[in-house]
Amino acid sequence: MEALVQVKEQIKIFVQECNDERSLELLDLLATGKMLRSKLILKIAGETPEALRLCAVVEMIHAASLLHDDVIDEADTRRGKPSINALFDNKTAIMFGDILYSKAFTELSQMDRKIAYNVANAVTLLSIGEMHDVALTDTFNSDYKKYLDMIYKKTASLIEASAASAAILAGRDEEKYALYGKNLGLAFQMIDDILDITQDSATLGKPAMLDFVEGKVTIPYLLLHQRLGDKQKLENLYKKELTQEESDWIKHQMEVTDALADSISQAQALGNEAINVLHDENNPELIMIMKAMIEREF
Ligand code: FPP
Ligand code: MG
Repeated sequence: MEALVQVKEQIKIFVQECNDERSLELLDLLATGKMLRSKLILKIAGETPEALRLCAVVEMIHAASLLHDDVIDEADTRRGKPSINALFDNKTAIMFGDILYSKAFTELSQMDRKIAYNVANAVTLLSIGEMHDVALTDTFNSDYKKYLDMIYKKTASLIEASAASAAILAGRDEEKYALYGKNLGLAFQMIDDILDITQDSATLGKPAMLDFVEGKVTIPYLLLHQRLGDKQKLENLYKKELTQEESDWIKHQMEVTDALADSISQAQALGNEAINVLHDENNPELIMIMKAMIEREF
């Protein structure tokens, strides 16, 4: 059986062990994503039963965090399917998230202590990252450090913990893989933030330049804000439905100030740092994953 299918089977077994019909029904309604964290774990640790259990634990934590995030964001779709809060209500999404989350921790408690510590600690960071994310969309944030810290916690921390834990399972250098996972997560989030500006709505599957309207001051906006002589015009457009003229102005300014090009360079620098660190690890597939991400069309 293909390894990712085995991860899904393992998740189902864990939920079956909870002895609750309703939980199994809800599990069936969850759309599966790219399973990036599992791919990473399996590429580092190999397709062993232990690695598959770790994948299932991480995917259940990730799914739980998205169930809660969709309540917080009042989102009615997830991965192209109706979200659980939209299909039922917020209560169901929160409670099912709690079940997945606590069952994952039950299984985590049976694993290697260092792995359990890494993953549990990442979930604290994830939760803090989410709280900061919400707070940062309140008023215009012009602090680059706050943005970086938030995307590290919210997005990169669990990917970092997944890679480090897989390295522990495989008896490989934990720190090298932790850095790879962290940088993959950071670059992934930055690129997502860049594509929100450079891609059209048809490609994105949602309105283009939505982040700024939703109150998110992402890396290209942060660099632009630093470089604009008159910052007021940009600040005035914050959280507004943009006219074509206004979004054209933002994009033009991002080009003439190199805010966009430098955002791309920063994501690429993180990727290249990780590639260099893994140089002697003989894991060409991890190098390819990173290259595919940073050497794309923007
Ligand atoms: C998606 O962000 C959200 C996350 C990656 C993390 C959310 C974390 C929590 C809700 C903490 C609670 C954790 C557990 C395990 C119960 P986004 O809204 O920017 O991305 P989206 O577009 O995919 O929704
Ligand atoms: Mg969300």
